[in-house]
Amino acid sequence: MQKLLIKGKKELSGKISISGSKNATLPILAASILAKHVTIKNIPLVKDIFTMVELLNFIGLKTKIIKKKNIIEIFNFDKKINTLAPYKLVKTMRAGVLVLGSLLSKYKKAKVSLPGGCAIGTRPVDLHLYALKKLGAKIKIKNGYIYAEAKNGLKGTKIRFPSISVGATENALIASFKAKGRTVLKNCAMEPEIKDLISFLKKLGANINLKGRTITIKESKVKSSSIIHQVIFDRIELGTYMIAGALLAKKNLLIDKIQPNIIKSEIDILKKIGIKIIKKKNSVNIIKGKSLKRINITTKPYPGFPTDLQAQLMVLLTQVNGVSKIKENIFENRFMHVPELKRMGAHIEIKNKTAIIKGPTKLTGAEVMATDLRASVSLVLAGLIAENRTIINRIYHLDRGYEFLERKLKNCKAEITRV
Ligand code: UD1
Repeated sequence: MQKLLIKGKKELSGKISISGSKNATLPILAASILAKHVTIKNIPLVKDIFTMVELLNFIGLKTKIIKKKNIIEIFNFDKKINTLAPYKLVKTMRAGVLVLGSLLSKYKKAKVSLPGGCAIGTRPVDLHLYALKKLGAKIKIKNGYIYAEAKNGLKGTKIRFPSISVGATENALIASFKAKGRTVLKNCAMEPEIKDLISFLKKLGANINLKGRTITIKESKVKSSSIIHQVIFDRIELGTYMIAGALLAKKNLLIDKIQPNIIKSEIDILKKIGIKIIKKKNSVNIIKGKSLKRINITTKPYPGFPTDLQAQLMVLLTQVNGVSKIKENIFENRFMHVPELKRMGAHIEIKNKTAIIKGPTKLTGAEVMATDLRASVSLVLAGLIAENRTIINRIYHLDRGYEFLERKLKNCKAEITRV
């Protein structure tokens, strides 16, 4: 099994270009089932994307990835379609459940494996199913599969999500495109990735309006012409490298191919902590601060602080003066990185949903184990600031979501090797 070896305490400088967003690409790929021919640019070449493409191929679509250009072309000739998402593909990548909305909308039926829990929590799909039922789908759960059917097609209606979910908003949005009449979705997630999905669906011909957390969709026909879409940048990858710069960029780390306005709350938080950030139109410059201040943060749906950056921020907070607190409000089991960070010398205590971090502490290299995607990258950040050598096991988690991680960090003078 592959491992990462990191020799810590190397100053970071240079430039990192941010890849396309994994979490924006996945629902767009799922929605491509509705189209005839789409070209999607700026896709990140990471494991989760390849798994979703494998699922599309399994369903019967034809796909062509041009790796050198980060482009995928998808053709749906409507031939030999399998309205099935099997367990072996959905279990490794939960976003597989997003094909439910498009299969149901286009082919009026779907059989999709229940994704099951994962390291960060139970992660049910009840809200996805709630919305699809409201749209008129008949749904049964049997043998670990969701059986969904809408013999006469889906029908537009008003749906208020009892709580905010990114995936349920995406599934409902895709399903509503062709639903009869008008659909109003209330209390929706409004992550930039959802806005990117909306912009893709609009190119496909959807009639969608946004107001606050309400999305209105009027029944539309899917365009038969080819469309081209460029996926937005990965704001979580950006946040991760901004934190790397906050920890180790004494002079300057330039991060480009981004839009700083999309991550305003993260930039404000880092500035409050004492990091110097200079915003430009499509880039940011990060310079490590001198005296770092404590902070209390709660993870929230966008535009709040993202749960996907919680583990990375925690590493930074081990280096600030005083006691900081992070309340994890989205997932119930997202502190798996804490025992590993403690083995490296961090002073962190967990009380219910809150991690209490005492800083500053010197971290020392150790052999640690990655548990999920974002926890893994927090261990990389910890390894970069630790004394001596850190070995990170189970790095397949990292490969699910970070494109060219070692290459990007090495280019900025980090000592990191995969063995
Ligand atoms: C997406 C992101 C993930 C991110 C998360 C929250 C993708 C591929 N993944 O995951 O990286 O951490 O948003 O920003 O985009 N919930 C239910 N019932 C449901 C659905 C969700 O109770 O049917 C709960 C979840 O358990 C969780 C909360 O709602 O506690 C938010 O989850 P959700 O926004 O749905 O996350 P995902 O779409 O799975």
